[in-house]
Amino acid sequence: MIVDIGADALTIEPLHQRGKVCVNPRSHLHLLPPAPLGQLKLYESTKEFKEIILLCVENDALLRTYVANILIAVNPYFDIPNLYGPEAIKSYKGKSLGTLPPHVYAIADKAYRDMKVLKMSQSIIVSGESGAGKTENTKFVLRYLTTTYGTGQDIDERIVEANPLLEAFGNAKTVRNNNSSRFGKFVEIHFNEKVQIVGGFVSHYLLEKSRICVQSSDERNYHIFYRLCAGATEDLKKKLRLDSPDHFRVRAQILHLYVQSCGEKNK
Ligand SMILES: Nc1ncnc2c1ncn2[C@@H]1O[C@H](COP(=O)(O)OP(=O)(O)OP(=O)(O)O)[C@@H](O)[C@H]1O
Ligand SMILES: [Mg+2]
Repeated sequence: MIVDIGADALTIEPLHQRGKVCVNPRSHLHLLPPAPLGQLKLYESTKEFKEIILLCVENDALLRTYVANILIAVNPYFDIPNLYGPEAIKSYKGKSLGTLPPHVYAIADKAYRDMKVLKMSQSIIVSGESGAGKTENTKFVLRYLTTTYGTGQDIDERIVEANPLLEAFGNAKTVRNNNSSRFGKFVEIHFNEKVQIVGGFVSHYLLEKSRICVQSSDERNYHIFYRLCAGATEDLKKKLRLDSPDHFRVRAQILHLYVQSCGEKNK
């Protein structure tokens, strides 16, 4: 059975050898034909980690669970069909925790309902190691609240659409995450007396400024640098003294000009 899902490997405890754990690189894992929940059997082969996650999804297991009202979510590293779509948003509206399978939307809805009933501000803390999915889950919370409890005016979209801009200036490729947030973020969503969204405010702190001048190998500068080099007008480039990234002193790090994740391609 799976004991731990790490960034590069799975820790597995063989069912016939309890107490003995082995660490397997993802690329070496293969699933036996689907096993009942709690009895995922694994052996070494070349099949993808994705298959393991897909089986978890089929069984609705392992990816998300609650400890009291804390949601623990594993990053699946690919888009799970319909998990965050409009239908899912609708289905979690007004539902108590535990009524439906664990989901970040359920947490968002609970915070909203508590705010309404207790008439007090509520906080959702999103925590985890780099690449755990904090930024993505924060965006899901914002998307859920603006879709479900927004006023339908452009403020809802503006709150959500501020993110790509913020990420351009504060996120960069690291060895752990192609879109790693190199700053802390405190997002406020403001509601009126009818408990509808009327505004938002994002404060940021601890921006990693040193990254602008120097990056570790395999890492990149902030996304905005490459985007300006690629897409700014000639006037702006002249003003900012920008050229092709290859011409900068930090060219040792420029081997990774382009990030291959789907997310990056869409931005
Ligand atoms: N729920 C999800 N479904 C599909 N893919 C996801 C999900 N959560 C995260 N990912 C993928 O994992 C990548 C890393 O996630 P994210 O940027 O949210 O991590 P993070 O916890 O914010 O890391 P960091 O601390 O480095 O900023 C995303 O770019 C996305 O490709
Ligand atoms: Mg992040």
